[in-house]
Amino acid sequence: MLFRAEKSGDEKPIFAVNAAAFKTDAEARLVDMLRSDGDLVFSHVVEENGAIIGHIALSPMDAVAEDQPIKALGLGPVAVAPNRQLEGIGSQLVEAAIKWARAQNWQLIILLGNPRYYSRFGFSVEDAKPFASPFAGPYFQALWLDETVQKPQSGRAEYAPAFGRL
Ligand SMILES: CC(C)(COP(=O)(O)OP(=O)(O)OC[C@H]1O[C@@H](n2cnc3c(N)ncnc32)[C@H](O)[C@@H]1OP(=O)(O)O)[C@@H](O)C(=O)NCCC(=O)NCCS
Repeated sequence: MLFRAEKSGDEKPIFAVNAAAFKTDAEARLVDMLRSDGDLVFSHVVEENGAIIGHIALSPMDAVAEDQPIKALGLGPVAVAPNRQLEGIGSQLVEAAIKWARAQNWQLIILLGNPRYYSRFGFSVEDAKPFASPFAGPYFQALWLDETVQKPQSGRAEYAPAFGRL
C-alpha cells in the first residue's frame, strides 16, 4: 500500500472512491470543486496495485478566534473503498493529514464527522463549540495543532466556498 499525494491523472479514481464510499456522489463532486477552486491544499491517496482505495482532503477555512484570523483547515471528505474499510486505512489517512497540517504550521483543523471515530485523533466537540458555523452541532469537531494558543471563547469558521455549492 502506498500513501502519496494526489498527482495528475488521479482525478477520476479519486472521484470514484469518494462516490463508492458515500451514499451519493456529492462528496466526490465536492473534491472536484475544491480542486478547480484551488482549495485542495492537501489531497492524499492510498494506492494498491495501481488502484486508488482511499482518499483524504484538506481545504483552507475562513476562520477567526476572538476576532483574530487563524490558520484553519477543514478536513474532509475522507473515503475508503467499501471493501477495504475497517482495516486502518482511514486512520492512516487522517494521521497523515494531521501530520502535514502541523508541519505546515496550520493552527486548527475542523471537521464534521462521528466523534466516536474522530476523538481517537484528538478531535473534540468541545473545542469546536466556540466557532459559529452553519455546521455547528454534535458532529462539528476541532483539533488545535498550535498548543501555545489560548482556546477562544468565541469565533467563527467557514468552509471553503465549494462546500456551500453542494
Ligand atoms: C469513515 C472511514 C473513512 C473510516 O476509514 P476506515 O479505514 O474504514 O476506518 P479505520 O479502519 O481506520 O478505523 C476503524 C474504526 O473506525 C470506526 N468507524 C469507521 N467508520 C465509522 C463511522 N462512520 N462512525 C463511527 N465510527 C466509525 C470503526 O468502528 C472502527 O472502530 P474501532 O477501531 O474502535 O474498532 C471509512 O469507513 C469510510 O470511507 N466510510 C464511508 C465514508 C465516510 O463516512 N467518511 C467519513 C465522513 S467525512
